[in-house]
Amino acid sequence: MIGRANGVRIGITGLGTHVPERVLTNDELARIVDTSDEWIVERTGIRERRIAAKEEALTDIARPAAKAALADAGVEPGDIDLLICATVTPDMMFPTSSALLADELGMPKAAAYDLLAGCTGFVYALAQAYGMLASGLSRRALVVGGDVLSKILDWDDRSTLVLFGDGAGAVVLEPVDHGGFLGFELGADGGGGETLWLPGSGSRHFDDPDAFVKMNGREVFKFATRIMVYSAEQILAECGRTVDDVDVYIPHQANKRIIDYAADKLGVPPEKTVVNVDRYGNTSSGSIPLALTDARAEGRLRDGALVLMTGMGAGLTWGSALVEWTTNGRRS
Ligand code: UT7
Repeated sequence: MIGRANGVRIGITGLGTHVPERVLTNDELARIVDTSDEWIVERTGIRERRIAAKEEALTDIARPAAKAALADAGVEPGDIDLLICATVTPDMMFPTSSALLADELGMPKAAAYDLLAGCTGFVYALAQAYGMLASGLSRRALVVGGDVLSKILDWDDRSTLVLFGDGAGAVVLEPVDHGGFLGFELGADGGGGETLWLPGSGSRHFDDPDAFVKMNGREVFKFATRIMVYSAEQILAECGRTVDDVDVYIPHQANKRIIDYAADKLGVPPEKTVVNVDRYGNTSSGSIPLALTDARAEGRLRDGALVLMTGMGAGLTWGSALVEWTTNGRRS
Protein backbone atom coordinates (compact mmCIF):
# COMPACT_ATOMS: atom_id res chain seq x y z
CA MET A 1 0.00 0.00 0.00
CA ILE A 2 1.26 3.42 -0.83
CA GLY A 3 -0.44 6.76 -0.56
CA ARG A 4 -0.06 10.45 -0.13
CA ALA A 5 -1.83 12.46 2.55
CA ASN A 6 -5.12 13.78 1.21
CA GLY A 7 -4.61 17.39 2.24
CA VAL A 8 -5.77 16.98 5.83
CA ARG A 9 -2.87 17.96 8.08
CA ILE A 10 -2.27 15.47 10.88
CA GLY A 11 0.93 15.70 12.90
CA ILE A 12 2.70 14.40 15.98
CA THR A 13 2.08 16.81 18.88
CA GLY A 14 3.48 14.77 21.76
CA LEU A 15 6.20 12.18 22.22
CA GLY A 16 7.20 10.03 25.18
CA THR A 17 9.28 6.92 25.82
CA HIS A 18 10.18 4.56 28.61
CA VAL A 19 12.75 1.78 29.01
CA PRO A 20 13.23 -0.64 31.89
CA GLU A 21 15.91 0.29 34.43
CA ARG A 22 18.05 -2.82 34.05
CA VAL A 23 20.97 -2.43 31.62
CA LEU A 24 22.34 -5.69 30.23
CA THR A 25 25.81 -5.40 28.70
CA ASN A 26 27.44 -7.59 26.08
CA ASP A 27 29.95 -8.83 28.66
CA GLU A 28 27.09 -10.03 30.84
CA LEU A 29 25.56 -11.85 27.86
CA ALA A 30 28.93 -13.52 27.25
CA ARG A 31 28.52 -15.14 30.64
CA ILE A 32 25.14 -16.61 29.59
CA VAL A 33 25.87 -17.83 26.02
CA ASP A 34 28.96 -18.42 23.88
CA THR A 35 29.47 -14.90 22.53
CA SER A 36 31.66 -11.86 23.09
CA ASP A 37 31.42 -8.08 23.26
CA GLU A 38 33.73 -7.93 20.24
CA TRP A 39 31.49 -10.18 18.08
CA ILE A 40 28.28 -8.38 19.04
CA VAL A 41 29.71 -4.89 18.46
CA GLU A 42 31.31 -5.83 15.14
CA ARG A 43 28.24 -7.63 13.72
CA THR A 44 25.47 -5.47 15.17
CA GLY A 45 26.80 -2.26 16.73
CA ILE A 46 24.93 -3.12 19.95
CA ARG A 47 26.74 -2.46 23.24
CA GLU A 48 23.92 -2.79 25.76
CA ARG A 49 20.16 -3.15 25.98
CA ARG A 50 17.41 -2.71 28.61
CA ILE A 51 15.70 -5.78 30.04
CA ALA A 52 12.33 -5.78 31.82
CA ALA A 53 12.11 -7.16 35.34
CA LYS A 54 10.32 -10.46 35.90
CA GLU A 55 7.14 -8.72 37.01
CA GLU A 56 7.24 -6.08 34.24
CA ALA A 57 4.95 -6.63 31.26
CA LEU A 58 4.35 -4.51 28.17
CA THR A 59 1.79 -2.19 29.73
CA ASP A 60 4.16 -1.47 32.63
CA ILE A 61 6.66 0.11 30.24
CA ALA A 62 4.08 1.48 27.79
CA ARG A 63 2.08 3.33 30.47
CA PRO A 64 4.86 5.76 31.47
CA ALA A 65 5.67 6.33 27.79
CA ALA A 66 2.01 7.14 27.09
CA LYS A 67 1.78 9.49 30.09
CA ALA A 68 4.90 11.31 28.92
CA ALA A 69 3.49 11.70 25.40
CA LEU A 70 0.19 13.08 26.73
CA ALA A 71 1.99 15.54 29.01
CA ASP A 72 4.24 16.57 26.13
CA ALA A 73 1.19 17.27 23.96
CA GLY A 74 -0.67 18.97 26.82
CA VAL A 75 -3.60 16.62 26.21
CA GLU A 76 -5.89 15.17 28.87
CA PRO A 77 -6.27 11.37 28.69
CA GLY A 78 -10.05 11.78 28.49
CA ASP A 79 -9.67 13.69 25.20
CA ILE A 80 -8.08 10.71 23.43
CA ASP A 81 -10.66 8.85 21.33
CA LEU A 82 -8.35 6.28 19.70
CA LEU A 83 -5.55 4.21 21.20
CA ILE A 84 -3.58 1.83 18.99
CA CYS A 85 -0.88 -0.26 20.62
CA ALA A 86 1.61 -1.89 18.25
CA THR A 87 3.29 -4.86 19.89
CA VAL A 88 4.11 -8.54 19.49
CA THR A 89 4.45 -8.97 23.25
CA PRO A 90 1.13 -7.85 24.75
CA ASP A 91 0.56 -8.62 28.44
CA MET A 92 -1.74 -11.39 27.14
CA MET A 93 -3.84 -11.95 24.01
CA PHE A 94 -6.93 -10.53 25.67
CA PRO A 95 -7.80 -8.27 27.22
CA THR A 96 -5.66 -6.38 24.75
CA SER A 97 -2.87 -4.19 26.05
CA SER A 98 -4.50 -1.20 24.38
CA ALA A 99 -7.76 -1.79 26.29
CA LEU A 100 -5.79 -2.16 29.54
CA LEU A 101 -3.84 1.02 28.83
CA ALA A 102 -6.97 2.99 27.90
CA ASP A 103 -8.54 1.96 31.20
CA GLU A 104 -5.45 2.65 33.31
CA LEU A 105 -4.80 6.01 31.66
CA GLY A 106 -8.43 7.12 31.91
CA MET A 107 -9.67 7.15 28.31
CA PRO A 108 -13.32 6.09 28.49
CA LYS A 109 -14.11 7.51 25.02
CA ALA A 110 -11.27 5.71 23.25
CA ALA A 111 -11.53 2.90 20.73
CA ALA A 112 -8.57 0.70 21.61
CA TYR A 113 -6.94 -2.18 19.80
CA ASP A 114 -3.58 -3.93 19.47
CA LEU A 115 -1.81 -4.09 16.15
CA LEU A 116 0.47 -6.96 15.15
CA ALA A 117 3.00 -6.13 12.44
CA GLY A 118 6.33 -7.22 13.94
CA CYS A 119 8.95 -4.52 14.29
CA THR A 120 7.06 -2.44 11.70
CA GLY A 121 4.09 -2.17 14.06
CA PHE A 122 4.70 1.43 15.05
CA VAL A 123 4.78 2.65 11.42
CA TYR A 124 1.63 0.63 10.62
CA ALA A 125 -0.07 2.13 13.68
CA LEU A 126 0.87 5.66 12.62
CA ALA A 127 -0.74 5.02 9.24
CA GLN A 128 -3.87 3.61 10.88
CA ALA A 129 -4.22 6.57 13.22
CA TYR A 130 -3.53 9.00 10.39
CA GLY A 131 -6.36 7.41 8.37
CA MET A 132 -8.80 7.58 11.27
CA LEU A 133 -7.98 11.24 11.91
CA ALA A 134 -7.90 12.30 8.28
CA SER A 135 -11.32 10.73 7.68
CA GLY A 136 -12.77 12.50 10.71
CA LEU A 137 -13.54 9.29 12.60
CA SER A 138 -11.07 10.21 15.34
CA ARG A 139 -10.13 13.62 16.68
CA ARG A 140 -7.12 12.79 18.83
CA ALA A 141 -5.15 9.53 18.85
CA LEU A 142 -2.49 7.95 21.00
CA VAL A 143 -0.19 5.55 19.16
CA VAL A 144 1.92 3.29 21.36
CA GLY A 145 4.76 1.09 20.12
CA GLY A 146 6.59 -1.18 22.47
CA ASP A 147 7.87 -4.65 23.13
CA VAL A 148 9.37 -6.77 25.86
CA LEU A 149 11.05 -9.23 23.54
CA SER A 150 13.24 -10.51 26.37
CA LYS A 151 10.17 -12.50 27.48
CA ILE A 152 9.93 -14.46 24.20
CA LEU A 153 13.62 -15.06 23.54
CA ASP A 154 15.35 -18.37 24.04
CA TRP A 155 18.03 -17.38 26.55
CA ASP A 156 20.16 -20.32 25.31
CA ASP A 157 20.12 -19.13 21.67
CA ARG A 158 23.00 -16.73 21.03
CA SER A 159 21.83 -16.00 17.50
CA THR A 160 18.77 -14.10 18.74
CA LEU A 161 19.53 -13.31 22.39
CA VAL A 162 22.19 -10.69 21.67
CA LEU A 163 20.04 -8.65 19.26
CA PHE A 164 16.98 -7.57 21.18
CA GLY A 165 16.02 -5.29 24.08
CA ASP A 166 12.90 -3.94 25.77
CA GLY A 167 11.42 -0.47 25.39
CA ALA A 168 8.34 1.53 24.48
CA GLY A 169 7.32 4.85 23.03
CA ALA A 170 4.12 6.75 22.36
CA VAL A 171 2.98 9.69 20.26
CA VAL A 172 -0.13 11.86 20.20
CA LEU A 173 -1.55 12.53 16.72
CA GLU A 174 -3.81 15.53 16.11
CA PRO A 175 -4.80 17.96 13.36
CA VAL A 176 -2.07 20.58 12.90
CA ASP A 177 -2.05 23.93 11.10
CA HIS A 178 1.14 23.27 9.14
CA GLY A 179 3.37 20.33 8.31
CA GLY A 180 2.16 16.85 9.28
CA PHE A 181 2.24 13.47 7.57
CA LEU A 182 2.88 13.47 3.84
CA GLY A 183 2.36 9.78 3.13
CA PHE A 184 2.92 6.13 3.95
CA GLU A 185 4.22 3.01 2.22
CA LEU A 186 3.42 -0.31 3.89
CA GLY A 187 3.97 -3.89 2.80
CA ALA A 188 3.96 -7.52 3.90
CA ASP A 189 5.32 -10.82 2.59
CA GLY A 190 4.03 -13.81 4.53
CA GLY A 191 5.97 -16.05 2.15
CA GLY A 192 9.12 -15.00 3.97
CA GLY A 193 7.46 -15.27 7.38
CA GLU A 194 9.42 -18.29 8.56
CA THR A 195 12.71 -16.41 8.47
CA LEU A 196 11.60 -14.63 11.66
CA TRP A 197 8.80 -16.32 13.54
CA LEU A 198 7.21 -17.43 16.77
CA PRO A 199 5.67 -20.86 16.17
CA GLY A 200 3.47 -22.15 18.95
CA SER A 201 2.22 -18.70 19.87
CA GLY A 202 -1.24 -18.98 18.33
CA SER A 203 -3.90 -21.41 17.11
CA ARG A 204 -1.66 -23.37 14.68
CA HIS A 205 -0.56 -26.70 16.16
CA PHE A 206 3.15 -27.49 16.27
CA ASP A 207 4.48 -30.74 17.69
CA ASP A 208 7.13 -29.15 19.80
CA PRO A 209 6.27 -25.50 20.31
CA ASP A 210 8.38 -23.56 22.74
CA ALA A 211 7.00 -20.09 21.88
CA PHE A 212 10.46 -18.58 21.46
CA VAL A 213 11.61 -16.35 18.59
CA LYS A 214 13.30 -18.25 15.77
CA MET A 215 15.28 -16.49 13.10
CA ASN A 216 17.40 -17.07 10.03
CA GLY A 217 19.65 -14.07 10.59
CA ARG A 218 21.31 -14.06 7.18
CA GLU A 219 17.98 -14.15 5.33
CA VAL A 220 16.51 -11.39 7.48
CA PHE A 221 19.65 -9.35 6.89
CA LYS A 222 19.27 -9.69 3.11
CA PHE A 223 15.59 -8.80 3.30
CA ALA A 224 16.27 -5.83 5.57
CA THR A 225 18.98 -4.25 3.45
CA ARG A 226 16.81 -4.55 0.33
CA ILE A 227 13.48 -3.44 1.79
CA MET A 228 14.72 -0.48 3.86
CA VAL A 229 16.01 1.13 0.68
CA TYR A 230 13.02 0.14 -1.48
CA SER A 231 10.41 1.42 0.98
CA ALA A 232 12.17 4.76 1.54
CA GLU A 233 12.63 5.36 -2.19
CA GLN A 234 8.97 4.51 -2.86
CA ILE A 235 7.56 6.94 -0.32
CA LEU A 236 9.89 9.77 -1.30
CA ALA A 237 8.90 9.40 -4.96
CA GLU A 238 5.20 9.15 -4.07
CA CYS A 239 5.39 12.39 -2.10
CA GLY A 240 7.44 14.21 -4.73
CA ARG A 241 10.49 14.53 -2.49
CA THR A 242 14.08 13.47 -2.94
CA VAL A 243 16.51 12.01 -0.48
CA ASP A 244 18.28 15.39 -0.36
CA ASP A 245 15.09 16.89 1.12
CA VAL A 246 15.27 14.53 4.11
CA ASP A 247 16.51 16.27 7.27
CA VAL A 248 16.23 13.38 9.71
CA TYR A 249 16.35 9.68 8.80
CA ILE A 250 14.94 7.35 11.46
CA PRO A 251 15.55 3.74 10.40
CA HIS A 252 14.40 0.78 12.48
CA GLN A 253 17.17 0.13 14.98
CA ALA A 254 17.87 -3.55 14.27
CA ASN A 255 21.55 -3.60 13.46
CA LYS A 256 24.10 -0.85 12.77
CA ARG A 257 25.29 -2.67 9.64
CA ILE A 258 21.75 -2.68 8.20
CA ILE A 259 21.33 1.02 9.05
CA ASP A 260 24.69 1.95 7.51
CA TYR A 261 23.95 -0.05 4.38
CA ALA A 262 20.50 1.48 3.91
CA ALA A 263 21.68 5.05 4.59
CA ASP A 264 24.61 4.68 2.22
CA LYS A 265 22.52 3.13 -0.56
CA LEU A 266 19.85 5.82 -0.17
CA GLY A 267 22.45 8.57 -0.03
CA VAL A 268 21.55 9.85 3.45
CA PRO A 269 24.67 11.15 5.22
CA PRO A 270 25.52 9.89 8.72
CA GLU A 271 24.78 13.28 10.31
CA LYS A 272 21.13 12.97 9.22
CA THR A 273 20.77 9.36 10.37
CA VAL A 274 19.62 8.59 13.90
CA VAL A 275 21.34 5.62 15.57
CA ASN A 276 20.79 4.42 19.13
CA VAL A 277 20.89 0.66 18.58
CA ASP A 278 24.18 0.70 20.52
CA ARG A 279 22.28 1.56 23.74
CA TYR A 280 18.95 -0.24 23.28
CA GLY A 281 19.42 -3.11 20.81
CA ASN A 282 16.39 -3.92 18.69
CA THR A 283 13.29 -2.93 20.69
CA SER A 284 10.90 -3.89 17.88
CA SER A 285 7.89 -1.54 17.93
CA GLY A 286 9.67 0.67 20.47
CA SER A 287 12.61 1.33 18.17
CA ILE A 288 11.34 4.24 16.06
CA PRO A 289 9.79 6.29 18.90
CA LEU A 290 12.95 5.78 20.97
CA ALA A 291 15.01 7.08 18.05
CA LEU A 292 12.60 10.01 17.56
CA THR A 293 13.09 10.94 21.21
CA ASP A 294 16.87 10.91 20.85
CA ALA A 295 16.62 12.99 17.68
CA ARG A 296 14.54 15.57 19.52
CA ALA A 297 16.89 15.62 22.51
CA GLU A 298 19.70 16.38 20.08
CA GLY A 299 17.70 19.32 18.67
CA ARG A 300 17.18 17.71 15.29
CA LEU A 301 13.37 17.83 15.20
CA ARG A 302 13.00 21.51 14.37
CA ASP A 303 9.73 22.85 12.99
CA GLY A 304 9.41 21.90 9.33
CA ALA A 305 12.13 19.22 9.39
CA LEU A 306 11.38 16.44 6.91
CA VAL A 307 11.53 13.18 8.86
CA LEU A 308 11.71 9.80 7.12
CA MET A 309 10.94 6.76 9.27
CA THR A 310 11.38 3.25 7.87
CA GLY A 311 10.71 0.00 9.69
CA MET A 312 10.91 -3.70 8.82
CA GLY A 313 10.47 -6.92 10.70
CA ALA A 314 8.54 -10.12 11.32
CA GLY A 315 5.73 -10.93 8.94
CA LEU A 316 7.75 -10.18 6.99
CA THR A 317 6.59 -6.57 7.05
CA TRP A 318 7.96 -3.16 6.20
CA GLY A 319 6.81 0.42 6.12
CA SER A 320 7.81 4.06 5.76
CA ALA A 321 6.24 7.26 6.96
CA LEU A 322 7.21 10.72 5.76
CA VAL A 323 6.32 13.65 8.01
CA GLU A 324 7.06 17.34 8.18
CA TRP A 325 7.72 17.84 11.86
CA THR A 326 5.47 20.30 13.65
CA THR A 327 6.30 22.07 16.88
CA ASN A 328 3.48 24.14 18.40
CA GLY A 329 1.31 23.57 15.36
CA ARG A 330 -1.77 22.12 16.99
CA ARG A 331 -5.07 23.36 15.65
CA SER A 332 -7.33 24.12 18.56
O1 UT7 B 1 13.75 -6.58 13.08
C1 UT7 B 1 14.48 -7.57 12.42
C2 UT7 B 1 15.22 -8.42 13.43
N1 UT7 B 1 16.26 -9.23 12.93
C3 UT7 B 1 17.44 -8.77 12.45
O2 UT7 B 1 17.67 -7.60 12.30
C4 UT7 B 1 18.51 -9.79 12.10
C5 UT7 B 1 19.23 -9.49 10.82
N2 UT7 B 1 20.46 -10.28 10.75
C6 UT7 B 1 21.60 -9.87 11.36
O3 UT7 B 1 21.63 -8.82 11.96
C7 UT7 B 1 22.82 -10.75 11.23
O4 UT7 B 1 22.56 -11.79 10.31
C8 UT7 B 1 23.28 -11.35 12.60
C9 UT7 B 1 23.83 -10.27 13.46
C10 UT7 B 1 22.12 -12.05 13.29
C11 UT7 B 1 24.38 -12.38 12.36
O5 UT7 B 1 25.47 -11.76 11.68
P1 UT7 B 1 26.09 -12.48 10.41
O6 UT7 B 1 27.24 -11.66 10.00
O7 UT7 B 1 25.00 -12.69 9.41
O8 UT7 B 1 26.62 -13.81 11.03
P2 UT7 B 1 26.25 -15.30 10.62
O9 UT7 B 1 24.86 -15.66 10.99
O10 UT7 B 1 26.68 -15.48 9.19
O11 UT7 B 1 27.21 -16.12 11.55
C12 UT7 B 1 28.64 -15.96 11.49
C13 UT7 B 1 29.26 -16.80 12.59
C14 UT7 B 1 28.70 -18.22 12.65
O12 UT7 B 1 29.77 -19.08 12.99
P3 UT7 B 1 30.51 -19.94 11.85
O13 UT7 B 1 29.40 -20.77 11.24
O14 UT7 B 1 31.08 -18.94 10.89
O15 UT7 B 1 31.51 -20.71 12.63
C15 UT7 B 1 27.73 -18.17 13.80
O16 UT7 B 1 27.56 -19.41 14.43
O17 UT7 B 1 28.97 -16.22 13.85
C16 UT7 B 1 28.41 -17.20 14.72
N3 UT7 B 1 27.49 -16.55 15.64
C17 UT7 B 1 27.90 -15.97 16.78
N4 UT7 B 1 29.10 -15.91 17.36
C18 UT7 B 1 29.20 -15.24 18.54
C19 UT7 B 1 26.15 -16.34 15.50
N5 UT7 B 1 25.68 -15.66 16.54
C20 UT7 B 1 26.74 -15.41 17.35
C21 UT7 B 1 26.90 -14.74 18.58
N6 UT7 B 1 28.14 -14.67 19.13
N7 UT7 B 1 25.88 -14.14 19.21
